[in-house]
Amino acid sequence: MIEINRISELKDYLKSEKEKGKIIGFVPTMGFLHEGHLKLVEKAKEGTDLTVMSIFVNPLQFGEGEDFEDYPRDHDRDMRLAETHGVDVLFYPHISEMYPGPMSATLTVHEGTEVLCGASRPGHFDGVATVVMKLFQAVNPDYAYFGMKDAQQVAVIKRMVSDYHMDVTVVPVDIVREEDGLAKSSRNVNLTESEREEAPQIYKTVKEAVTKALSGEFQFSYELESWTRSKLEKRISGQIDYVSVYRFPELTPLSRLEGDLILAVAVYYSNARLIDNQTWRQG
Ligand code: PAJ
Repeated sequence: MIEINRISELKDYLKSEKEKGKIIGFVPTMGFLHEGHLKLVEKAKEGTDLTVMSIFVNPLQFGEGEDFEDYPRDHDRDMRLAETHGVDVLFYPHISEMYPGPMSATLTVHEGTEVLCGASRPGHFDGVATVVMKLFQAVNPDYAYFGMKDAQQVAVIKRMVSDYHMDVTVVPVDIVREEDGLAKSSRNVNLTESEREEAPQIYKTVKEAVTKALSGEFQFSYELESWTRSKLEKRISGQIDYVSVYRFPELTPLSRLEGDLILAVAVYYSNARLIDNQTWRQG
């Protein structure tokens, strides 16, 4: 594995690899790697000839009072993990490389951001879209891998790629979970012991709710939402941010449960906000 810190060096290197006919797979991350990230690497290795991973904690996507400063970082551990899992190129830019000065033009995401994390974190997806656009310009990948843990992010990036006629295929990858069902997240280390103990109830409840929906117990989205919310309120101490059902990937509301859907949940704990979801086809 080689580590590259400069965009110009990355571009030169990848240009010469492309000229040799190599198909480039790209896995953008903010580091503090876990098996969720490494599953994306596994998929990239299956589908492409050269896997590029970026590690960059992007200040643009953190709101005021969010955990940009506290976001866990560990360069040496990440480097070892990336290397042992077969990453070919680790792009590890300094903040001054990605943002040498204020941006003169940034992206604003208009569709699919008035709900879920977009509603709770104003500007978050503008920051995500802007940095992913910058990373795509630097890497010019054939395929880019994104986890369904951040389902709204997948929807937003797919839409951006289509809006801007970009030659990259976005590949969604299933959520990787701990043995007890909790979705793997770099933020899980910021849970207290008792929060960590109860957190698997989030997935358990989402899964039960979708099973009930599939068996026809609910007809309308509000029934599914209110059942899920009231179960969650009994099972966890964290503060529920949202429990919502939408069409996926459109992220538009619906009344009768029908079509390709997502049930998504976000919960605030003392030092971490956890998200989880399940997508399914109803009817
Ligand atoms: P980060 O939170 O580090 O996640 C990087 C990628 O790993 C994302 O595509 C995310 O969905 C995926 N991922 C995280 N946990 C996962 C899990 N348990 N199972 C499957 N995939 C998982 O998402 C970001 O960084 C940033 O917004 C980024 C796209 C890098 C832009 O800054």
